[in-house]
Amino acid sequence: MVAPAESVRVLVVDDEKQIAELLTGILRGEGHDAECVTAPEAALKRLRQDRFDLLVTDLRMPGMDGMELIAEAQRLDPTIDTLVMTAYASTETAVDALRRGVTDYLSKPFGADDIREALAKCLRSRGRRREERAQVETLSAQVQSAQQTAESKLADLTLLHDLTRLIADRDTPLTECLARLGRHFGADLVLLTEEDRVIARYGSGPEAGLRALARRARLEDAPMIMPGAMAAPVARGAVVVWGDEFRQEHLRVLAITASDLSLAAENDRLRAEQRGAYLGIVTTLIEAVEAKDRFNQGHSRRVADLAVRFGSHLGLAERDIDLIETGAKLHDIGKIGIPEEILNKKGRLTDEEFDIIKSHPVLGEQLLQPLDFLAEARPIVRHHHERWDGRGYPDGLASSKIPRAAALLAVVDAYDALTSDRPYRAGMPPREALEILRSGAGTQWDPDLVSAFIAM
Ligand SMILES: [Fe+2]
Repeated sequence: MVAPAESVRVLVVDDEKQIAELLTGILRGEGHDAECVTAPEAALKRLRQDRFDLLVTDLRMPGMDGMELIAEAQRLDPTIDTLVMTAYASTETAVDALRRGVTDYLSKPFGADDIREALAKCLRSRGRRREERAQVETLSAQVQSAQQTAESKLADLTLLHDLTRLIADRDTPLTECLARLGRHFGADLVLLTEEDRVIARYGSGPEAGLRALARRARLEDAPMIMPGAMAAPVARGAVVVWGDEFRQEHLRVLAITASDLSLAAENDRLRAEQRGAYLGIVTTLIEAVEAKDRFNQGHSRRVADLAVRFGSHLGLAERDIDLIETGAKLHDIGKIGIPEEILNKKGRLTDEEFDIIKSHPVLGEQLLQPLDFLAEARPIVRHHHERWDGRGYPDGLASSKIPRAAALLAVVDAYDALTSDRPYRAGMPPREALEILRSGAGTQWDPDLVSAFIAM
């Protein structure tokens, strides 16, 4: 006996005990692990208990037909091979059995050679199936890994694209770029340093340790990974990300984005410088306005301070309060274009003179036109002399059409004007000024704002 290339586990089922035992003997002689039962129910019981490579069954048995047994066996283990034997061989039954997934067919009576041949066929088919399965598994693993690579590449590309877009819009704050980066890496903390100083951050975490890593990346001028953190040098500093277990490909993406962050930081710095320079100019202009109008000294500053107090009293958002403060400081900047004699005239203004005075909100708005960062403050400047009843200037806007910040400023502006000295009268006591505001509520001023102002 020659040991087969592969030993398989076989279950033989035949209601004729002799045939079952004979077959089992032959299979064992061939080196296979074979056992037999004489009833389909017993076969099912064994199939449920153990794994078999091959089921050899008679087609006609009492209780259950061989094909039914095969169907059940295949349901229990889809990889099982099956071999049917029958004394009633017909082409039709054979074809039917093969169509239903039977590996081969044995006609009774059969000899040892027939069995060997059928078995060899089963083994070949088994080997082929195993190969196919392995190929499918390899392929699907490849597809899955390609898919993952594609997904992560796509995420990386989206990040780069987003950062480029954020930076192209030069008004994007640096912190927003860091936040985008942080979200990409699922990071808890992202730091951007310059000369070892943290200039921007996103999230929270162990800052001191990360600053040390940033310092190393900067000094060695190389990206580096530590457990749970990675860093890449940028111009004059480094960017550090803390959170996950990072891999080389993460570091590569970080190193690529580092130059974008340098740009964003540069934009931030330029913006701050520009803002500082513009605000310096604007402050000088306001001082110049107030110097021309000797009764208006400190008016803009006082109005701004009071408007901030009023805004907080109303519970406005910090951003809106900042905007109102800027608008308040700038509201009369258009007076720079109004002749001094008119601004300082004692006694009543002529209609022409009043028209000239009335041009200051529009003049002011035009003056601020080139300053992008003051864009949101411009409507406040333009509309601070509108009236609730629509009889104000320059646009005759009424009630809710007036920007709320401008309506708020109108109340504060009036209060300061009433309580400070004017060319034609001395400043009023606060109680009297509030009384005037109350009487103009709903005609000159927003009634709700007047009530809130008086209550402050
Ligand atoms: Fe004004």
